[in-house]
Amino acid sequence: MKNRDKATLLFVIVLLLLACQIATAQQRDTVVVNADLGTVKISKYIYGQFMEDLGRGIYGGVWVGPNSDIPNIDGMRKDVINALKEIDVPDVRWPGGCFADQYNWKDGIGPRKDRPKRINMWGNVIDDNAFGTHEFLEFCKLIGAEPYLAGNVGSGTVREMKQWVEYLTYPGDSKLADMRKQDGHPKPYHIKFWGVGNESWGCGGNMTPEFYADQYKRYTTYLHNYGGNHLFKIASGPSDYNYHWTKVMMQDVGQRMNGLSLHYYTIAGPSWGNKGPSTDFSEKLYFDALKKAEKMDEIVSHHSSIMDQYDPQKHVALVVDEWGIWTDPLPGSHPGFLYQQNSMRDALIASTTLDIFNKHAARVRMANIAQMVNVLQAMILTKGKQMVLTPTYYVFKMYKVHHDATYLPINIRSADYKLDGDSLKAISATASKDSTGKIHLTISNIDPHKKQTVVIDWRGINLHAVHNGEVLTAGSFDDVNTFDNPDNVKLKSFDGASLKNGKLTIEMPSKSIVSLELE
Ligand code: AHR
Repeated sequence: MKNRDKATLLFVIVLLLLACQIATAQQRDTVVVNADLGTVKISKYIYGQFMEDLGRGIYGGVWVGPNSDIPNIDGMRKDVINALKEIDVPDVRWPGGCFADQYNWKDGIGPRKDRPKRINMWGNVIDDNAFGTHEFLEFCKLIGAEPYLAGNVGSGTVREMKQWVEYLTYPGDSKLADMRKQDGHPKPYHIKFWGVGNESWGCGGNMTPEFYADQYKRYTTYLHNYGGNHLFKIASGPSDYNYHWTKVMMQDVGQRMNGLSLHYYTIAGPSWGNKGPSTDFSEKLYFDALKKAEKMDEIVSHHSSIMDQYDPQKHVALVVDEWGIWTDPLPGSHPGFLYQQNSMRDALIASTTLDIFNKHAARVRMANIAQMVNVLQAMILTKGKQMVLTPTYYVFKMYKVHHDATYLPINIRSADYKLDGDSLKAISATASKDSTGKIHLTISNIDPHKKQTVVIDWRGINLHAVHNGEVLTAGSFDDVNTFDNPDNVKLKSFDGASLKNGKLTIEMPSKSIVSLELE
């Protein structure tokens, strides 16, 4: 070969090598965590649950009654209680949902045999009210969660709601406090979170925001703080993109409320009538669900910016007390019971949505996934004596490290996950610092086909060790846990992370969520 040809060949090789390097560099996701700039606490209540008197959410899922042969504590399933204790549930919202605005609390107190049977609009079934106020508060105590009671505005009265608060919290000798004592609870309960109606724009009374704002003021005038109890009052807020509702509430009610609720559900399919299945779905439905879930960022940002105009100090919390994926019910199940499976896709919806809430933690100080057991995006499914933990359950387990930790601002330059000419960012993450100084990272790769190499630069801290790696992933994005195969999708230990010169490199499997602890 002539010298000139040799030089040309060398030049081509160098060019090819350079091109390869650029291509590899582009496939890498680069993340910067500002470990010294954290000022906002991630409220543990972002990891709250919602339990409605709906379908098998309570009856069968939590409550089996004291005479059941399913092991129970005072009628409540032991297996479910133990599983929930493992994820440190901070609060549980009850009794609804839409059910809250049809519920009279007096139906659920006193001897169970004397409680009235009522029609539950969910599935038109008879409800014997065996699970009432005391059962709920006992359940919260057993799992170590704060109760969040939702009062009835739609079909109830101011007097009913006022009396419920008095019954629960009055330390003296009023008639209602004496009733509570007779019902087996001499001491007043400590009740913090109190919802004033639910979806008052719809199932909670079809009100305008102006009318509801006046109702809120009327109801809360009579909700007293007795003894040392202090109610944190949460107003019924908007759904989705209803920014007008937020504006009116901030203008007319402002700091008379401690929280404003927001509901947003992820619907993978084209409409509420065709939400798509929870099993055996296409990649298109996988992609569309994650895309719809990502809208939470825009929705929360917009409601927050309206709230900022009226409340720049952020006294009023945005409480996303219903969220999650809502699919068509499982074939063969009662359509009103909202029973669906829960896949690896849904775990990724949970992780990426929690990342959004964490990012907005200055304003979003509570969120309650819908719903805890056997309904919608559940943590737990039950069938008779059997219990299955869902992929979403494991996300809540991984993310408990962020409860009340300081949010560390994070910048992510992520590769795209593309489908049919549309794209989503593949990587989403949360970094936080806990009260002992440990740093925690949870990171998701939603791309169902491609692994990602993520390089994380930690500004403002010298890290020397990475521990306790765990990963949640699956063979396919629609993999689920069933009663026959309960461990199909579960947490495994992860050794794909390495730390060199303060930079953390993570080899993320496709469709995976990884958690790491750093020092
Ligand atoms: O979570 C199911 C229902 O969805 C709730 O009852 C209601 O608030 C919402 O529309």
